[in-house]
Amino acid sequence: MKRIVILFSGRGSNMQKLIENLSDRVDIVKCITDKKDAKGLEICKNHSIESHILSSDFQKELIELVDSLNIDLVVCAGFMRILPKEFVERFKCVNIHPSLLPRHQGLNAIKRSYNDDFNDAGITIHYVDEGVDTGKVIAQYKIDKIKDETIEEFEDRIHSLEHKYYSEAVSKILNI
Ligand code: GRF
Repeated sequence: MKRIVILFSGRGSNMQKLIENLSDRVDIVKCITDKKDAKGLEICKNHSIESHILSSDFQKELIELVDSLNIDLVVCAGFMRILPKEFVERFKCVNIHPSLLPRHQGLNAIKRSYNDDFNDAGITIHYVDEGVDTGKVIAQYKIDKIKDETIEEFEDRIHSLEHKYYSEAVSKILNI
């Protein structure tokens, strides 16, 4: 079985979908977070997946940990740190971002998409390089903006896209 780790920092809804959709076909060896109170830790516990909390100076620790696990792919799912160059050069890493990159790289992408002048918005699944949301695009999915939609409704539709397509993309990359 192919082996992955998932990196997350917060609520972990994308991680949860990855676990639900892929656990029968891929070995999710560990879920790694930089936040000791990340809500997603509960999801790991509920699915009996080992979790690891990084220390604040995490760069070396993360490289050594992932190196020791013999991983095919590192899957970022809301990991709010920039990965060191050495890490992204050593391991194949993918990320999901809630905008149509190169629009709205970085933080608050959903709010910025909601407020921009385009008629559409969406998500991007991409390889991770040393920049912030600058890696090669793997797939993008779009929604049309709806007149008078609230930001909460818009955000829900963006997250639905993420939950629908991230597992599919990861399974394609892994060829499983
Ligand atoms: C998602 O919107 C993802 O695109 C972004 O961070 C958010 C993580 O949400 N990178 P969750 O923790 O998976 O619920």
